[in-house]
Amino acid sequence: MAETGNKARIGLIGLGVMGANLALNIAEKGFRVAVHNRTPGRIRSLMEGAGELAGHLAPCETLADFVDTLQKPRAIILMIKAGRAVDEQIRALLPHLDKGDILIDGGNADFHDTRRRARELAGKGIDFIGMGVSGGAEGARHGPSIMAGGPVRAWEEVHDVIKAMAARFNGEPCAALVGPDGAGHFVKTVHNGIEYADMQMIAEIYGILRDGEGRSADSIGKLFAEWNDGPLQSYLIEITARVLQTRDPETGQFIVDVIEDRAGQKGTGRWTVIEALKLGQAASAISAAVDARVWSAMKEARKNGESLFPPQKEFAPAILEADMEKALLAARIIGYAQGFSLMRAASDHHEWDMDLAVVARIWRAGCIIRSGLLDEIAVAVREGMPHDQLIFSPALRARLNETRGSLRRVVSSAVLQELQVPAMSAALACFETLRQGRGTANLVQAQRDFFGQHGFERIDGGTDRHGPWV
Ligand code: 6PG
Repeated sequence: MAETGNKARIGLIGLGVMGANLALNIAEKGFRVAVHNRTPGRIRSLMEGAGELAGHLAPCETLADFVDTLQKPRAIILMIKAGRAVDEQIRALLPHLDKGDILIDGGNADFHDTRRRARELAGKGIDFIGMGVSGGAEGARHGPSIMAGGPVRAWEEVHDVIKAMAARFNGEPCAALVGPDGAGHFVKTVHNGIEYADMQMIAEIYGILRDGEGRSADSIGKLFAEWNDGPLQSYLIEITARVLQTRDPETGQFIVDVIEDRAGQKGTGRWTVIEALKLGQAASAISAAVDARVWSAMKEARKNGESLFPPQKEFAPAILEADMEKALLAARIIGYAQGFSLMRAASDHHEWDMDLAVVARIWRAGCIIRSGLLDEIAVAVREGMPHDQLIFSPALRARLNETRGSLRRVVSSAVLQELQVPAMSAALACFETLRQGRGTANLVQAQRDFFGQHGFERIDGGTDRHGPWV
């Protein structure tokens, strides 16, 4: 869609941190953006801080003015809190819109809501794009990773603006239409699930170094900084190194040492696990990370538990730094792999025909889970995931063969030292199970048949057979 007259090419409603930064980003790329916010104070502060970009922004205090300022077909990005507020905003906008206009939800929406909204709006002739945006405030301002879901014709109308504002990896924009209706928000949800697992695994290594080895925050930070020059290179390792070396201006202590160990969550990690369960997929590393946040909130119970069950330290071999680095890499690969298997299952189930190689490519820059590994993953996905398992791809198989012994040593020694490694343990259990051709579910089948005559398959081919239980 070309620019016409002095009308704005695109509109953006919701000038919180993400929305305001996205508006400035789009303006910087030379597009005229109409901006609106329910409370006008935010429009004014955006304009005041916009500097020379103000010329590309069209501030609109009323919805009628906002809609009127947009060229047709209108394309409007909503950057408002996921949930009811989105439905309310859509309801308020509808009387002002025409058939063929495009609404784009850039929040962290539940993809089920996105599918419903897409259906409802399609009935009114409005195209709806569910757009996952990752990268935090900095990403929104200078280039996020963008995962869109919606009709191809709507994407074709807006993709030049969206790609212009996205991060770039080797010159390639990290923005794509990954499928129809809820596909974009689903991919963003899984991105966040992987983000939860990765953050938790990093925190587990921090715990081993802090509680097992008594190391100070800054010395752990320096180690993470070194690791960031190797195969673990990633945004999350980089910021962890910086966070750990930052001091609290009030007390002079390292700031992590004055932060309560209770983690918040807004829902995307939990949604990933719920969808995995519904689709019969194992997202155990992500699930362990969600559980860890739940336990983190149980501060009083944990304090009580500490006094009820004092340590029973057993001998445990020391954990080498080199093993920690490799263990984190192995666990990270397995966390990603679970996310990719889940996206494959969801794509098949919802008939999204999603190209996971494209997903891997747009995650290489701009998003929170960007990492050196994603380049390898993009290649691995393109070459094919045998049995829908990323860990079976040749590139990652080699990585896991180099690192799996370290994951086993770190998890076992941490467990003996009574240090908590739930996400790394879950990743290890997933990996070991996937490399055991004959497991132990034969006994579970026998038990099911014993108490409920549920039947079992025999290894010699018989189906729905029963045991001669005594
Ligand atoms: C991103 C982030 C972003 C947000 C998370 C935080 O990709 O930019 O994931 O979307 O920071 O949703 O989620 P929690 O509050 O649940 O940790």
